[in-house]
Amino acid sequence: MRLLLLNALLPLALAAPAGKPIPELSTQQWNSIQSSFSDGLRSLSQWSWGAAEGLVAEIEGIKHQDDDETQKTIWQQLKEDTNSFSRLVKVIEFEGESAKYLDDKDLQITFFAPNNDALTPPKHGHHDHDELIEELSKNPSLDLLSAALESDASLLKDDDDDDDDDEKKKRCKEIFKKIAGKVLQYHGLAKAYTAQELAQNSTVATVLKADDGSYGGLHRRIRIEKSLLPPSLKINFYSRVLVSDKKARNGYFHTLNHPLIPPPSIFEELFLFPDEFSTFTSAVQGVHGRKYIDWHYDHEASKDGDPQFYGTALTTVFAPNNKAFLALPFKLKLYLFSPFGRHALVKVLAYHAVPDTLLLSELLYKEKAKEELWGGSGSDPSFHKEFIVNSALPNATLKVEVDKTQLLPIEGVVKTTIKVNDQLVEVIDVPARNGATHVIGKLLVPPHKHHDDDGNDVSGEDDWENWEDWVPSWADEV
Ligand SMILES: *[C@@H]1O[C@H](CO)[C@@H](O)[C@H](O)[C@H]1NC(C)=O
Ligand SMILES: *[C@@H]1O[C@H](CO)[C@@H](O)[C@H](O)[C@H]1NC(C)=O
Repeated sequence: MRLLLLNALLPLALAAPAGKPIPELSTQQWNSIQSSFSDGLRSLSQWSWGAAEGLVAEIEGIKHQDDDETQKTIWQQLKEDTNSFSRLVKVIEFEGESAKYLDDKDLQITFFAPNNDALTPPKHGHHDHDELIEELSKNPSLDLLSAALESDASLLKDDDDDDDDDEKKKRCKEIFKKIAGKVLQYHGLAKAYTAQELAQNSTVATVLKADDGSYGGLHRRIRIEKSLLPPSLKINFYSRVLVSDKKARNGYFHTLNHPLIPPPSIFEELFLFPDEFSTFTSAVQGVHGRKYIDWHYDHEASKDGDPQFYGTALTTVFAPNNKAFLALPFKLKLYLFSPFGRHALVKVLAYHAVPDTLLLSELLYKEKAKEELWGGSGSDPSFHKEFIVNSALPNATLKVEVDKTQLLPIEGVVKTTIKVNDQLVEVIDVPARNGATHVIGKLLVPPHKHHDDDGNDVSGEDDWENWEDWVPSWADEV
């Protein structure tokens, strides 16, 4: 269908003066133009200047209409649509910087715009500023900021006439502005992308750059999940694109039903879902391994102007869910979670992490190399890519395979999978403040030496069935 239309339009497009875009016309208008042309060709005498003028006026009229709509910047369009975006506009105006970016005619960008429903404050009691700052530092979200601005209109006033006793309020405003700036940056992309283009990839970099020493200083990413029936996009699992591809002079904006929140650390994320990950997180805590997958501001160690962070700045984790632990032989589980099996547990857990590395289906970044070792396959919609990466267990590598398959010859209709040691990952590319998580349903079996009763080497066995033959001695190896 698209191809047909394209073929029909191509001759017209080629005939058009270079640089001038063909206006978009409805089928009916095309029909009327085409019949006018053929009528005119059949009988030149019938081709009156009046008809020609009418035709030109019609095309130009339509062109102007289109222009008016799309010549406005994202910022102008958001401001005009008060029914949908008055709350967002209030936060952006309060913050100050983002508006310039969204209004810049020389850029071509993408913005995710949470609508008024998305920014309706949760029903809870009045907060004082300290409580709000506390809550915002834990959960830096636009709906909380929007609630703060709504509940205290004086925050929106200019600082100029404030007295000294408003020092505290000024400081609070500064903090709010900084948080708003970061969260708004997490809603922006540095290029203009339609929903269809976005659906092509599993993650995409936002404008927000990591500046706390984590994430290799890269731009923080959002995760994009598409469903075909009905066609829709979900960002970071919780936010759905309600209206996509609103064209503006400086790019596109897409309406969201939930504001985006820059992600917390891998540990904090897994900790939020005890039904899925309670065994893994308690195992990690049990062996004092939290610092290897966590990253957060350290209140006690920080001094004014010298913030300190706790944990690991960059790592990728293949996180086994509770089902994975349930599937282990019962005695192995008892062993691993007993004092005798502690050393084995440390080694097994270490095998699930790829330190100093950001490994996503479209990106491999290693902190040591300080560069992207792989950045996807460019415009190629299908690929197979294989990596051997070093796990946190010394001398033990993981084999990671990424496959992207174009399911239909339509942009965005792709399926991306990741396999680790031949095991299909259940949930890929979960973004985190200090790296990424991939969820697996079976524990990975670390490399080990193992001979069966007849002395045959069966080290390659990829299950835990005969664990008693090798796990205890393997755990004691240095
Ligand atoms: C998707 O990833 C490829 C690299 O694999 C990149 O070239 C392309 O620009 C990305 N597209 C979007 C919409 O992020
Ligand atoms: C890793 O392998 C190298 C040689 O392959 C060996 O010298 C070293 O001892 C090994 N390290 C560990 C911790 O097993």
